[in-house]
Amino acid sequence: MPNAYISGTGGYVPPRVVTNDDLVRDYGIDTSDEWIQKRTGIKERRFADAGVGSADLGAEAARIALDDAGLAATDLDMILFATLSPEHHFPGSAVYLQEKLGLCDAGRFIGCMDIRNQCSGFLYALGTAASMVQSGACRHVLVVGGETHSAALDLTTRGRTIATLFGDGAGAVVVSATDEDRGVRYWKMGADGRFADALSQPVWDIRKRPFIPLNEDGVGQVSTEMLWATMDGRKVFRHAVERMCGAVMEACQSTEVFGPDVDLWLFHQANMRINQYVAGQLGIPEDKLVHNIDRYGNTTAATIPLLMAEAARDGRLQRGMKVMCVAFGSGFTWGAALIEW
Ligand code: UT7
Repeated sequence: MPNAYISGTGGYVPPRVVTNDDLVRDYGIDTSDEWIQKRTGIKERRFADAGVGSADLGAEAARIALDDAGLAATDLDMILFATLSPEHHFPGSAVYLQEKLGLCDAGRFIGCMDIRNQCSGFLYALGTAASMVQSGACRHVLVVGGETHSAALDLTTRGRTIATLFGDGAGAVVVSATDEDRGVRYWKMGADGRFADALSQPVWDIRKRPFIPLNEDGVGQVSTEMLWATMDGRKVFRHAVERMCGAVMEACQSTEVFGPDVDLWLFHQANMRINQYVAGQLGIPEDKLVHNIDRYGNTTAATIPLLMAEAARDGRLQRGMKVMCVAFGSGFTWGAALIEW
């Protein structure tokens, strides 16, 4: 059985920087830089311009990851795209990315699959890719986490609890087969569907009749409550801490790789306070954690692959290191993975 290792990483964020002060000044949101920084650690985020979608951001990240791996897009056997903000409700983003990477023109009609697991989506996709490679079914799987949140945020005071948290971006990795003794050593996912409504965007409620109510002029009307995401922030916070700690402890016990043996910790970037709390509970030293929430906000499925790409570029991530990843989010879903780089 081959090992599955990360042969290349790439990250891309759109150029437009939106600071906390910009949310007040340009969007008129009743918030403040002080509130957002103190409660979340976020200083700024990136917003994509109209016309740009998650597959566009993903394509930029994917090209960098492929280049880093020394591969052409045509070498890929599969694309997995983790996102909660796909181009369309269906068919999702992976097929759009395939086309953007030139695979259709090249006659490479490989499998393309979206993974819809929100903040844990990248780790769900990574585990899926590793299994595909280890089984021998694929040699190179492109795994992308990409989000264009800005289009669907209620950028008013009404939506401030959510709108101030999220940003756009994409990260990509190539998961490849190798005979070397390295790669994805462990992954485990979890979910608790009892809390499905605690963080959700119910715009597609297929149980509704009519699905889209029409007014007397025959014009479809969707209420704002349906359009925007809703979140019970405190409940999410509490469960995030508990589940992230639990997922890490289970990973350490299963792999017998304990805290001090881990060289780098990549936590999902939802809130700096969540991560500091988890790190405190587990006794993880500050210098083994990397962050990007201050610059990008919560980029959901993109946070961990963006961290990987940045850490690989700036030398924090070195061959042979043991890297522990952990994420938690809507569903509730969570996951942890241990990678020997
Ligand atoms: O990616 C995975 C999922 N997401 C998360 O993991 C998020 C988890 N939750 C959180 O990070 C935090 O709960 C938040 C950052 C969302 C909120 O922080 P909090 O400390 O739990 O604040 P809160 O919701 O309890 O609100 C406290 C106050 C409220 O005002 P009152 O009722 O005390 O007068 C809110 O209306 O802060 C107000 N508030 C704001 N004020 C200024 C909420 N959002 C804002 C805002 N700016 N952006």
